[in-house]
Amino acid sequence: MLVVGAGIMGMGIAQVAALAGHNVSVFDTRAEAAEQAKQKLADSLAALVTKGKMTAEVVQALLARITPVAQLSDAAHVGLVVEAIVENLAVKRSLFQEIEGLVSEYCILATNTSSLSVTAIANGLKYPARMVGMHFFNPVPLMKLVEVVSGLQTDAAVGQAIFDLAEAWGKTAVHARSTPGFIVNRIARPFYAETLALLQEQAAQPAQLDALLRGAGFRMGPCELMDLIGHDTNFSVTQSVFEANFFDRRFTPSLVQRELVEGGLLGRKTGRGFYSHPEGAPALVATHASALPANAQWVVHGIGAVADTLATAVSQLLGGKAASRATSSNWVGVEVAGLQLHQTDGRPAWQVAQDARLKDMAVFDELPAVAGGALAFACVGREETSELAASVLHALGYVPVLVSDTPGLVVARTVAMLVNEAADAVLQGVCTLEGANAAMKLGVNYPAGPFDWLDRMGRARVVAVLHALDACYRGERYRVSPWLQRAV
Ligand code: NAI
Repeated sequence: MLVVGAGIMGMGIAQVAALAGHNVSVFDTRAEAAEQAKQKLADSLAALVTKGKMTAEVVQALLARITPVAQLSDAAHVGLVVEAIVENLAVKRSLFQEIEGLVSEYCILATNTSSLSVTAIANGLKYPARMVGMHFFNPVPLMKLVEVVSGLQTDAAVGQAIFDLAEAWGKTAVHARSTPGFIVNRIARPFYAETLALLQEQAAQPAQLDALLRGAGFRMGPCELMDLIGHDTNFSVTQSVFEANFFDRRFTPSLVQRELVEGGLLGRKTGRGFYSHPEGAPALVATHASALPANAQWVVHGIGAVADTLATAVSQLLGGKAASRATSSNWVGVEVAGLQLHQTDGRPAWQVAQDARLKDMAVFDELPAVAGGALAFACVGREETSELAASVLHALGYVPVLVSDTPGLVVARTVAMLVNEAADAVLQGVCTLEGANAAMKLGVNYPAGPFDWLDRMGRARVVAVLHALDACYRGERYRVSPWLQRAV
């Protein structure tokens, strides 16, 4: 096989293919680039040998299979070309047209593009059916996922051959249709966008949002992750998905992020983004909680997994005495000393209070997946309500974080939007449910796939949260996927 482009991705792909036993030619337009990249790879593999992670024999054999070539015509005999050059449609098109003049008509042409249309790259080829996307994630040797992207003219057998090849290389392959952002870069947009929207309306601080999403099981919060990726890179992916979708307002980039980019506050690489680096996020300051009244009455309302979790926590608190249950209530949550705390159904606290004719009440977010995790809540009513609500959540074992009274709070809102985007991707035939789950777990290390969350939260609740967001903000952003509506 031939890898074109001896950059970070191209050499990663060459390494993985050579490890699997393929002879790999590597070509780069910059003179000596392929030679130098091979030397760099040899150095980094030598370090793995020193650490005992690979044997010297394996490394030697692997390197012997990688051959830098000075001209494309030196690799005219190959059966597969994987391209990982500059992200530019015109340059990629002309490269593939040139390659087509050199290789046999049976040679498969694969592109590692992360944002361009595979259909468009194939346009102008004599045999466009052999063109396919083989989208790896960085760093290639460590990241398990490969999106196998079929364009309009890609032959199904070509897609399947590349799928099987990726699996043979030890990767998990998922099929995707060539659409903006493919699977991962599309479904992940709300993870950043909802946090940026909450920041824009000053609903919470970056360190609070990060702690809340970490509490939900994400390895990193959105702010620290954007600081790591670089705001310029993250903003440009968002912009390209927005533009490629004919400026669908659902994908509108954020003014908060544009400001950071324009100011050169790009994150870790410039020493400043949401946080100063290398220090990173300041420690989370929990909302003040005090001791609860001694003989406070606890009642757990509603039924289902969340009500059961709350009942278990209350029973522990009461020294093993079973919690009082009000299973016929049409809401899930707890009532302590007359204060009701409802798990969010999307409606902001003020609206729940109005609908239920309550003066004081609180809503809380999805329960953390992580023991002792941060839990967002919002209140209406007297000033002391927030302290009492914080005390209740603290007593139940969570770190209470008071945020503004926004629909769907933080985690429910973010997760509902991830599910909504995944549902649209399935509706549009971009991927399957299983493909979306695998892609998000392996491509961006999510603790669960979007459809796992759908099962956990239940369709009705996800749709209710989206409706509440739509009712509050109007416009296209929170429109509910027909796939979800249909299922409800
Ligand atoms: P890079 O800048 O590290 O490497 C690109 C290499 O291609 C350079 O060595 C350059 O000299 C060479 N090159 C440029 N034009 C060429 C041409 N016409 N013929 C032969 N060689 C040429 O870039 P990187 O990060 O490896 O990205 C390559 C491709 O992979 C891009 O399409 C990018 O969108 C995609 N990609 C990048 C990811 C990343 O995280 N960096 C992740 C997934 C995909």
